[in-house]
Amino acid sequence: MDKSTKEHWNEIYTYLDADELTWYEENPEASISLMSKCDINKNEPVLDVGAGESTFIDHLIDQGFKDIIAIDISEVALNKLKERLGEEKASLVRWIADDITRPVQTRNLSDIALWHDRAVLHFLLDEEQQDAYLSTLKKVVKKDGYVIIATFSLKGAQKCSGLEIKNYDHNMLAKFLGDNFSLLEFFDYTHHMPSGEPRPYIYTLFQKNK
Ligand SMILES: C[S@@+](CC[C@H](N)C(=O)[O-])C[C@H]1O[C@@H](n2cnc3c(N)ncnc32)[C@H](O)[C@@H]1O
Repeated sequence: MDKSTKEHWNEIYTYLDADELTWYEENPEASISLMSKCDINKNEPVLDVGAGESTFIDHLIDQGFKDIIAIDISEVALNKLKERLGEEKASLVRWIADDITRPVQTRNLSDIALWHDRAVLHFLLDEEQQDAYLSTLKKVVKKDGYVIIATFSLKGAQKCSGLEIKNYDHNMLAKFLGDNFSLLEFFDYTHHMPSGEPRPYIYTLFQKNK
């Protein structure tokens, strides 16, 4: 991804309020439901890649997680999320402005107990970008660690925020992660955009093998 991708996302977050974003959800219930199946110690590092202004970060804070990492290509998104959380809650989060297809700081992380991605992987169309994402995930997620990936499903839209996306089902995501990850659970989930229109997603939960 080049500078224009970063600019694309910065512009979106500059001009739209959180609840105007088509992917906005007040309650990240599908992610929460998958996370409830994970056995994670609250002191372990958990990360949200492409966090944007996601309310999933609020959930992690409210649940008492002590090492939360929010990563996004857009520093505008991260700054807006920080502002919404307020100083005290924002100080509980490690903030990383990184392009997951050219990660710098993210590559230095380790022992991640949960990698959470809602609606980021599907923007990576080139094999090179997907490889960079995957090699980073494999490097930083600990053995036994969990991976939640949610993308537009095969029944879903083919574009988001003006960008082409790649649609997935659970088998494609399992193949993408490879043999070292076991698929624990998956389901279709329909997100309703602020306009009320449906957006079908596939939600998956994997665990890295020992
Ligand atoms: C559709 S939004 C989803 C935001 C958030 N996960 C949520 O569910 O509300 C996609 C997010 O991925 C971020 N993003 C896109 N490409 C990225 C990349 N290469 N590296 C890191 N973040 C990226 C965007 O800035 C945006 O915040």
